[in-house]
Amino acid sequence: MSSWNLDSWRNKPILQQPVYKDQELLKEVEDKLSKYPPLVFAEEVRSLKKRFAAVTEGKAFLLQGGDCAESFAEFNADTIRDFFKVFLQMSVILTFAGGKPVVKVGRIAGQFAKPRSSDFETINDVTLPSYRGDIINSIEFTKEAREPDPFRMLSAYNQSAATQNLIRAFARGGFADLRKVHRWNLDFSAGTTADKRYQQLSDKIEQALNFMGACGITPENTPSLAQTVLYTSHEALLLNYEEALTRKDSITGKYYDCSAHMLWIGDRTRQVDGAHVEFLRGVENPVGIKAGPTTTTDDLLLLLDKLNPSNESGKINIIVRMGAEKLTDYLPTLIKAVKKEGKKVLWSCDPMHGNTIKASNNYKTREFHNVLQEVKNFFAIHKSEGTHAGGIHLEMTGKDVTECIGGGQNIGEENLSSRYHTHCDPRLNAHQALELAFLIADTLKAAK
Ligand code: PEP
Ligand code: CO
Repeated sequence: MSSWNLDSWRNKPILQQPVYKDQELLKEVEDKLSKYPPLVFAEEVRSLKKRFAAVTEGKAFLLQGGDCAESFAEFNADTIRDFFKVFLQMSVILTFAGGKPVVKVGRIAGQFAKPRSSDFETINDVTLPSYRGDIINSIEFTKEAREPDPFRMLSAYNQSAATQNLIRAFARGGFADLRKVHRWNLDFSAGTTADKRYQQLSDKIEQALNFMGACGITPENTPSLAQTVLYTSHEALLLNYEEALTRKDSITGKYYDCSAHMLWIGDRTRQVDGAHVEFLRGVENPVGIKAGPTTTTDDLLLLLDKLNPSNESGKINIIVRMGAEKLTDYLPTLIKAVKKEGKKVLWSCDPMHGNTIKASNNYKTREFHNVLQEVKNFFAIHKSEGTHAGGIHLEMTGKDVTECIGGGQNIGEENLSSRYHTHCDPRLNAHQALELAFLIADTLKAAK
């Protein structure tokens, strides 16, 4: 294989990129970013890789989720706090049921750049470049707003740094203390079955903690009861940003993409000889590969060889996103091939991207029952192949939005317009996310 360096991706074919008019300004921003402090530390990335290895071996479960696209408009403490709360709730639900540690990875603090199905968008005979995420241009439908602006990379960096800071504070500063399990509850209880089940579960956890406390096991002498780690991740799509934040680690001499702990390659940019694969093959971070229905076994095996030539456990996460029905047709073949070659991979299920539909009122949405069905099928297929269903990858928010249809609150097409806030794909709201966590919990319990 040819040698890798920070910018060897620039000589490869690349898809899904903005065209910046002012190349000098772009260079200025890249130089500036490359001198900014890293957002994560190499040692943290190594610790995530160890946790991914545990998931790969079936000793832990991966919970990954967050916005489809973070936005400058929705950037505030409440949004981050509410997401963190629901993620903690989901995590205790899964830990309690599975009896295994849950590795928490947010699509947060850097999830800004979006691949699009078309380069242009037309509204009432006006055609403009598509919105590509707040790190590139603005969602507003005007010529000026849609012009890619390099300065947006600096705003995205600053937002990511502030988000990362609050996440660390919540994780370490007492918010994640298991004794507060009742307080993570949503302010907007909908009286759904999931809400009631969460109440019951938190009562049980409280009792268990009281019992352990009486036996002398307290958060004071067992910090893991009061602290947690939420790792960060995003799609490594805008390589100008990723390159600028990649640093050589002084301890190991290896390269780490310090924009997040984990990065993934999207279903649309996973070409074996393309720029995105070239860039990610050179960094030490755990790497996700989105695998849609068009992923062939040949593609996948070539990608694994290129991205993980030493077959290191914890390096690769295959994020399967086929759609509830197609999954049954395509996933078993991929699993068999990977197993036959002895490749170590963490399999996770993204039940969102293969189940996107257009509602009759034109809203992009997802039916909750299809999301549930894809997760059920994913678990069933792994069970029959004798492999580990390692984790779940969700588009979700801690807010009470109305973007996906169905669930305990019975959101219908007619409700979508009421609180449809996403900048890109429809997310599960906090109740739907909890409901899904309970479904997975029941599956994990049955598998024990
Ligand atoms: C995403 O995760 O938001 C995304 C665009 O996914 P995919 O690459 O699987 O389509
Ligand atoms: Co999406």
